Amino acid sequence: MTPVDWAGQWVLVTGASAGMGRQFAVQLAKRGANLVLCSRNEQRLRELGDELETEVRVIAADLMTDAGVQHLLDRLDALDVRIEHVVNNAGVGGAGHFSNQSPEQQILLTAINCTALVRITRHLLPGFLERQSGGFIQVASTAAFQPVPYMAVYGASKAYVLHLTQGIAEEIRDSGVRMMALCPGPVPTEFQERAGYELTGLQKKNNMSADDVVSKALVAYERGRRVCVPGFTNSAQTILQRFFPREFVTRASALVMRRSGRDKVA
Ligand SMILES: NC(=O)c1ccc[n+]([C@@H]2O[C@H](COP(=O)([O-])OP(=O)(O)OC[C@H]3O[C@@H](n4cnc5c(N)ncnc54)[C@H](OP(=O)(O)O)[C@@H]3O)[C@@H](O)[C@H]2O)c1
Repeated sequence: MTPVDWAGQWVLVTGASAGMGRQFAVQLAKRGANLVLCSRNEQRLRELGDELETEVRVIAADLMTDAGVQHLLDRLDALDVRIEHVVNNAGVGGAGHFSNQSPEQQILLTAINCTALVRITRHLLPGFLERQSGGFIQVASTAAFQPVPYMAVYGASKAYVLHLTQGIAEEIRDSGVRMMALCPGPVPTEFQERAGYELTGLQKKNNMSADDVVSKALVAYERGRRVCVPGFTNSAQTILQRFFPREFVTRASALVMRRSGRDKVA
C-alpha cells in the first residue's frame, strides 16, 4: 500500500466537536491535512476550525436522523473539495438493562453508530475505489469483541462496525483503499457523561487519553492495518477472551459492568 501523504488531502471527521474526533482533527491538521468537520454543534466546530492552522469546512448535521445524514452527504457533494479519507467517529453510548432503556434511544444509538456509518461509507467508497486511494477509520470499541450485558445495544453496534469494516476490507483488498476499525478501550471524554455513567476507579487509572489513542490509530492506519486496538491491556483483553467459552466471557463481562454500576443506569 502506498504511504499516506496527508499534506493538502481533505479528511472528513464526524463527531469532531469533542473527545476523540476533536483529537483526530488536531492531529490530522498537524500532519498537514485539510478538514471537513461534522457534528451537531456548529459553534464548537467553528471554534475548533479557528484554532487549527489548516483549511476547514464545517457541516452541522444530526447523524441520528436520516435527514441529517442526507444533509451531510448533499453538502459533501456540493463542496468545492474532494474527500480523500474519512474518520467515522461520531457515536453515542447507552447503559442499563435492555428492557429498561428507552426504545427511542436504542433506535437513535443504532442510527448513528451503525446506519450513519454505513451510509457515509457507501456514499464515498466507490470514488475512493475508482481513484485507488484514500480510506476509512471506522471507530468501533473493545466492546465489539464480546457481548456487553447492560450495554448490550452499544456493544452490538460496535461489533457491527468491527465486522462490517473487516468484511469490506477483505472485499477491497489490493484496491489501494484503506479500511480500518479502531477499537479503543475506555477513554475519558464527554462520552461517559452523555451515556449516563462514570469510569470506574480502575478504568480511571488504566485508561488511555484521546490524544494517545488517536496517535496510535493514525500510525496503524498509515501502516495499512485493518484493526487497531490501542494499548497493551486492551489488546491483551481482546486476544485472551478468544481462548475462553463465550458464555464464560459474557458472564465475566456482566460482572465488570455490574461492578461499574452500568446495571443501575436508568
Ligand atoms: N470514550 C470511550 O471510552 C470510547 C471507547 C471506545 C469507543 N468509543 C467511541 O469513540 C467515538 C467517539 O467517542 P468520544 O469518546 O470521543 O465521545 P464524545 O466525547 O461524547 O464525542 C462524541 C462526538 O460525537 C458527536 N455526536 C454525538 N451525537 C451526534 C449526532 N446525533 N449527530 C452528529 N454528531 C453527534 C458529538 O458532537 P455533538 O454533540 O456536537 O453533535 C461529539 O463530537 C464513539 O463512536 C464512541 O462510541 C468511545
